[in-house]
Amino acid sequence: MKVLLVGSGGREHALAWKLSKSRLCKHLYIAPGNPGTAQYGTNVDIADTDIPAIVKYAQSKKIDFVVVGPEDPLAQGIVDDLAGVGIKAFGPSKQAAQLEADKGFAKDVMRSNAIPTAEGRVFDNFSDVQSFISSRDSALVVKAAGLAKGKGVFVCDDPDEALIAAERIMKEGIFGQAGNELVVEEKLVGQEVSILAFVDGRTIYVMESSQDHKPIGDGDTGLNTGGMGAYSPAPVLTDKLMDQIQREVLVPIIDGMNRNDTPYVGILYAGMMLTAGGPKVLEFNVRFGDPETQPIMMRLKSDLLEVMLATVDGTLDKVTLEWDTRPSVCVVMSSGGYPGSYENGKVIAGIDRAEALEGVKVFQGGTEVNEDAQLVTKGGRVLGVTAVGDTIALAQELAYKAVKLIEFDGAYCRSDIAAKAIK
Ligand code: AMP
Ligand code: GLY
Repeated sequence: MKVLLVGSGGREHALAWKLSKSRLCKHLYIAPGNPGTAQYGTNVDIADTDIPAIVKYAQSKKIDFVVVGPEDPLAQGIVDDLAGVGIKAFGPSKQAAQLEADKGFAKDVMRSNAIPTAEGRVFDNFSDVQSFISSRDSALVVKAAGLAKGKGVFVCDDPDEALIAAERIMKEGIFGQAGNELVVEEKLVGQEVSILAFVDGRTIYVMESSQDHKPIGDGDTGLNTGGMGAYSPAPVLTDKLMDQIQREVLVPIIDGMNRNDTPYVGILYAGMMLTAGGPKVLEFNVRFGDPETQPIMMRLKSDLLEVMLATVDGTLDKVTLEWDTRPSVCVVMSSGGYPGSYENGKVIAGIDRAEALEGVKVFQGGTEVNEDAQLVTKGGRVLGVTAVGDTIALAQELAYKAVKLIEFDGAYCRSDIAAKAIK
């Protein structure tokens, strides 16, 4: 079949790699893709948010199946629009995608289904936020309710800091419309894990666990990013905790979405904090995580396209996935200055040397080929250097050995990805 993958990040490079290996995939197109995805199919110059152009292209090429990587097109209703012209697509409907696109909606669904999450409130005007924050004396988390590329969350140590964050989001408008509403909630303490599951509306198939590293600095310090590295599996997640998360979070959210007439199909990603009071939801995402997808795809042995088709066809109950038992670690190399401003166009060298190491793959996130046919940086998170090893320590060592072989001006990475899993 002909498959069209939508997106252009490191996640899409990893998905393109796995989709291209499927026995069912005759040709893969990627809109817009990046130089990494071009190794596995045809990049098509259409922005991932240009839904009418994607739908038109899919019709003209007689695409059989569309896989949507990022949240923006899902929130805009790409799956509904493709269904409208009879093309099957992997991902939730516009309504169901609100679980990520509107943190206020997500809080409501969690509240009405008694799903454990941080205590919080949703605000749509600044004077209410101001009086709420001023009445508090503890650490608070302030979040833009809309989509902000993973950067819309400020974890604040005290109410003064929270007030500054609220002002920047709501009054200065640093995230644009995404900050018209705010969520202010209690700060949770614990280890974070990412739980990703295929969901066909009824059946939930949980993938191997992973852990992201959101802050820019070592030891989880500094501003939040889209994710600076990830590993899989996350050893803190015992079978008992996994059962509890299934029972208290995944099953009730899928039931709740059905009761709301917004049935959920696609990837459900639950970002969880393992607190002393039990696992609590930090956020839901409606797609694969980036960079979690990179180590997860390194470990998936089964045919990705088959399981995606089963998800859309409602036959997930017949699927069994096989995994490489060896752990995997992904270290993100970013542009100097990210998540603030940074320069593009830095020449990247050494990916071939890194990939010559057994067990290493370098997924490209923010890259392009310039006029002189050189691979250069184009974005904050440039590469996801990913390795498998017999132990998590060996996978970590190999990933950092590969990182050292790659160069571009201003390259930055955290030096402690997966350290928590080893400790
Ligand atoms: P979110 O996009 O909501 O997952 O938030 C991004 C990151 O901010 C999370 O991965 C956490 O590291 C942190 N965070 C979000 N909500 C909270 C919270 N209530 N308590 C502590 N940290 C949080
Ligand atoms: N890595 C976090 C995310 O994809 O939202």
